[in-house]
Formats: sequence, C-alpha cells, structure tokens
Amino acid sequence: MTSQRCYAETGVVPSEVNVPVEQQQSCSEVVRRILQRRGHDASQMVQILREVQEALDWISPEAIDLIQAELKVPRTKIEGVAGFYSFFYTQPRGRYRILFSDNITDRMQGNLTLMERLCQALWVEPGKVSEDGLLSIDKTSCTGMCDQGPGMLVNNRAITRLTAERIDAIAELVRGKVPLEQWPAEFFKVEDNIRRADILLDNTLEPGAALRAARARAPDQGLAASNMRSWREGLPTGLGGPAAMLDEIKRANLRGRGGAGFTTGLKWEACRNAPLQTGQQRFVVCNADEGEPGTFKDRVLLTRQADLVFEGMTVAAYTIGARRGFLYLRGEYRYLLDQLENVLLRRRALGLLGNNILGIQGADFDIEIHLGAGAYVCGEESALIESLEGKRGTPRNRPPFPVTNGYLDQPTIVNNVETFAAAALITLNGGEWYAGIGTKHSAGTKLLSVAGDCERPGIYEYPFGVSVLQVLADCGARDTQAVQVSGPSGVCIAPAEFERTIGFEDIPTAGAFTIFDTSRDMFEVARNYVHFFQHESCGFCTPCRVGTSLLKNLMDKLHNGVGSPYDFAEIEKLNQLLQSMSHCGLGHTACNPVLDTIARFRPAYEQRMTQQDFTPAFDLDRALAAARQMTGRDDPGAHFAPAEFGEDA
Ligand SMILES: Cc1cc2nc3c(=O)[nH]c(=O)nc-3n(C[C@H](O)[C@H](O)[C@H](O)COP(=O)(O)O)c2cc1C
Ligand code: SF4
Repeated sequence: MTSQRCYAETGVVPSEVNVPVEQQQSCSEVVRRILQRRGHDASQMVQILREVQEALDWISPEAIDLIQAELKVPRTKIEGVAGFYSFFYTQPRGRYRILFSDNITDRMQGNLTLMERLCQALWVEPGKVSEDGLLSIDKTSCTGMCDQGPGMLVNNRAITRLTAERIDAIAELVRGKVPLEQWPAEFFKVEDNIRRADILLDNTLEPGAALRAARARAPDQGLAASNMRSWREGLPTGLGGPAAMLDEIKRANLRGRGGAGFTTGLKWEACRNAPLQTGQQRFVVCNADEGEPGTFKDRVLLTRQADLVFEGMTVAAYTIGARRGFLYLRGEYRYLLDQLENVLLRRRALGLLGNNILGIQGADFDIEIHLGAGAYVCGEESALIESLEGKRGTPRNRPPFPVTNGYLDQPTIVNNVETFAAAALITLNGGEWYAGIGTKHSAGTKLLSVAGDCERPGIYEYPFGVSVLQVLADCGARDTQAVQVSGPSGVCIAPAEFERTIGFEDIPTAGAFTIFDTSRDMFEVARNYVHFFQHESCGFCTPCRVGTSLLKNLMDKLHNGVGSPYDFAEIEKLNQLLQSMSHCGLGHTACNPVLDTIARFRPAYEQRMTQQDFTPAFDLDRALAAARQMTGRDDPGAHFAPAEFGEDA
C-alpha cells in the first residue's frame, strides 16, 4: 500500500494550513483506522466515507481502493454511495469547503450578495475550486438556521448570522490558512431562540424518570420475568409492562410529528406484533434528518432536551422489545455530535442505556448516532433506513413497511425526534393527561420553527389548536402577506385564512412556519422551493427526476419574462404526473408551492407573462424528450411504467 499522503493530491501543502496530526497520517493509515473502528462493516459505509472525508478532505480514488480491498465491496458500489450524497466529494474541493445555505429566508437576508462578496475577496468562482486548491464556495439547501441566518457551513461546521463584516473576516482567515479550530468561537455559536415553551421545552425531567415510570406499569410494580423476555425478544406479554406502556401511548392519542401524523401507538403495536425470524431483532430509529427548508425545531430539542428524546427512544425499545436504536442526525448538525455522544455516555454511566438498564437483568438497549451527508430525501423513512444500512438513500417500495421490514429487513419503528420526546412525557404523566392537551384529534403540543418576516424568529411551542393569527402576533409579524406552513411540501396560506388553526383537523405541520410580508414576491418564493425539489430529487424515478426539472425550467422561464397563460396548464399537467406517478412523497408534493401560490397570488405570475394568448411557449413532449435523452432513458414507453418503481437506482 502506498504511503503517499492523500492531501498531496489536493495540491495543498499540509504545513501551509496547520493540518491536525490526524490529517498528516497517510491515507492508508487513516482509512485502516476508520475501518477498524467501524468493525470492517460495509453496512457502515456512509459513516466510513464521512470519516474518511473528515480526515482527508475528500474521498480520493486511493481511499476508495483501500475500502474496496479491505471490505471486499465492489468499487462501483462505493462510488455509487459516495456520489449520492451532496456532502461527499470524489474530486478535491479544497481544504476549506464553504457552502452558503440557500433557503428562501437566507435569500431574504442577502445570502447571494454575501456569497458574491466572499467569492470576490478570495478570487474564486461559485461552484469551483480556487486555483491554488485551497477552497471552494458553493450553495447548499437550507442548513436549519433560518432564525439566525444567513447561514453557511465550512467543512460541515455551521456558521450563523453572516454579515459583510463577518464575510470579510472569514476571507482573512481563509487567506491566512487559519485552522477552523482557531476561528472566533462566536462564528460557530448556534442559538436556541426558544420564544415560547410548554410541556416539552419547559420540562425538567430527571434522566431515567420516564423509564422508572414505565417499569412501574408492570403488574407487580417491578419488571416481571415475562416483561424482561419482552425487552429481549419482543414477545407480547399480555397485561402490564410493555403492553401497558403501549396502551398509555394509544390513550394519549399521540400522532407522529414528522409530517404524516401516523398514530404512534398503532405503529409501535404493528412493530411489536411483527413476527421475528431466527436471529432477527427489532430496531428503534429516531429521524433527526430535519431537511424540510424552514424547519429547525429538532435541532433545538436535541440541544436542550436530548435526555428526553433518548428516554423516549428507550421507552419505545421497552414497548416493542428492541435492543438497538439509531439516531439519524442530518449532516448539517454535525456540530451536535460530540455533545449528543456525551449524553449517551452519561446515560450509560447512569445505567439508563447499555446492558441491564435500571439494574434489571436482560433489559438491554443502546443507541448509535449516524450522520447524514446532505440528502433531503433521506428524511423519508425507508430512504433513511437504506442510508443507515450504508447505501444510497433511495426510498424503498412500500409495502412492506418498516414496522415489519425495516433496518436489515427486520421490524423497525421510525419516529420523529419530537414524537419520542412526547412519548417520554406520556410515560411519566400518563396518556390521559396528554390527551387532555391540545384538541380532540391533535393531542399535545407542537413545536413551530418560526422564521422570515417577524421580529422574534425562533421556536414556539403551543398546544395544538393555536391559530395562525396568534402565532403571527406572538412573533411580531407585520403586514404579513403569506405563511408557508410545514415547508415547501406543506401549504401556503394568505391573510383570509389566518384564522385557521395548527392541528391535524386543519393545518397539519412538521414544524416550519415561514412568514412573508407584503414586500415579498411570492412567485420567487415558489421558484426557490421548486429549485430545492429539483436539486433534492434523488433521481430514482423518471416522473420526479424529469418532472421537477421541467417544473424548474417553467418557473425559470416565467422568471425570465417569457411565459404565457399556457404555462398554467402545463404546471397542472406536471402536478398530475408527479402526484400520480412519483415513487415517494418528495415527488408527490413538489408542485405544492406553485399551485398554492398560483391560487392565492396569481398576479405575481401574470405580471411575468409577456404573451397573453394561450400559446404554448413550452412543449412538454419536446422537453420530456430532451430530458429522456439527458438521463439516458429515451424509450418513451418505459417512462411512467409502474414496473420501474422496482428497479435499482
Ligand atoms: C421527502 C421526505 C422527507 C422527510 N423528511 C423527514 C424528516 O426530516 N424528519 C421526519 O421526522 N420525517 C420526515 N419525513 C417523514 C418520514 O418518512 C416519516 O413519516 C416520519 O419520520 C415518521 O415519524 P413520525 O411518525 O414520528 O412522524 C419525510 C418524508 C418525506 C417523503
Ligand atoms: S419521487 Fe422518485 S426521484 Fe423523487 S425523490 Fe422520491 S424516489 Fe427519488
């Protein structure tokens, strides 16, 4: 094996940038150490590649050779995974890899001007590597800092509240090749901005209290032998213990907070009842991918209430009989990794994780943290599971659902961060208590990530049933023209609808609440969201891959002032195509921002139309043909055939 240093390929001399000792090791030393730590386990591929990149700045051909030789995995597979995630680089991208967050709120706060300023100061073109190989500057999808934007990532570390002064300081630091560790700490400060707290954010649960409450639900006030068997093997145990816990979750009427609002008790029950083959087990997965633009509440929950979340996951493990759990944390929140690992360590030391939890023989459960690498679609639960297994994040065919065929094809529950936090509170205080908060069909509270045009952006926790008007008043919004609830895949509402309420009966939401005042151009808002969907489409199925591209082209055409009313009909056609033929929720919802804004802010579109007749300024079939050719799929008959959904990406 060669001892040549990988960073030599980047053209940057290490001593110039004071690289840490770890990075001065040879590529083979680094890769071997990572593989060793990851147990030479190919299902850890995403984590292996991430760590290789963190150590060596990119995933070089030499590193891939080594992984291939050591893990005996085909090179194409490794390259396929590396090529899927936008934070992985198989070409050198410089020692400083700068990505500007490009959500609509970043745009409103001037991210493009700041990016241009940095590019000019450092003599680099957006999207390219500087001539000396030192840095690259590009854009990325929302980094989850909308309440303190504009934001950026430098080597996956979040920087918030960018200003012209801060940009100039960053340019100096990069020019001086100052290691990130020596950059001013305040650059990396991420605020929680909790503006309204309720049962979740206000709680001061003592670690372990919910678990003790769960144990107390066992018939004899202790864990009966049968209940311990349940934890180990996931066997139904009749009354008491895990079954009683499940009843409590059902009584609470808890519904998932990740967007779809599925009843948590039913999900847990289906997983608990799913048969296990020999050697199989059940898994608990916490979805902290939080990729929906405008959403940042899971970041705050994990910062302030990590114990509550881990406690909820442990209660879930107890209820369904699982011994392994995963927290899937989006790559943008890399900075949280160490502090979350420390919480896990502390919980192990307290006997709240690991073997014999609470000192009870056989009560075993532990949690691993996996980091994502910049792919919104990995928030979709089956894509997330693929990613956990070390693969590309391609959504699976469903059914079968994860509750029977999840991680490693074994029964798995996937729940949102907020759902687990709520489950811990329910364990402690009872289902009836929880069901009494909120509304009839929407029990409990909801965390809203409030951002955009208001005086006090941040996290607001309300009992379900709060009106949009109330939220706007609380956060100091004025002259509000529109609110985008639940991000681009959610709904856009106008002032006439502000009496509507947050809840499953009216406006369900995963959490984003983005405000636009009357100075904003709602067409440009929709265009930004369409660009997001096109960028994040995983490309697995043709309707979404091509449909999101066509939609983006249409919106760009309107932006360039060459649209016609005919385009409305085209958008409607595309919507039907995406809704009915897409493989996953991303494609299903990709037209939402456009349809909602056309319905409510039609003049914003009409003023861009130069032709007022119904002339097709856009030929869908011709554009499809071009897209087919581009994607190497030019057999028209094969495009929207359901059989395609079963193909490998
Ligand atoms: C494209 C796409 C992205 C998603 N992103 C997330 C996410 O970031 N976090 C999340 O909890 N759920 C996300 N979901 C929903 C998950 O698939 C799943 O329904 C959820 O994690 C279940 O948890 P819950 O029952 O607690 O809501 C996404 C769905 C789709 C289609
Ligand atoms: S709809 Fe298809 S192409 Fe789009 S993200 Fe889902 S699986 Fe990927």
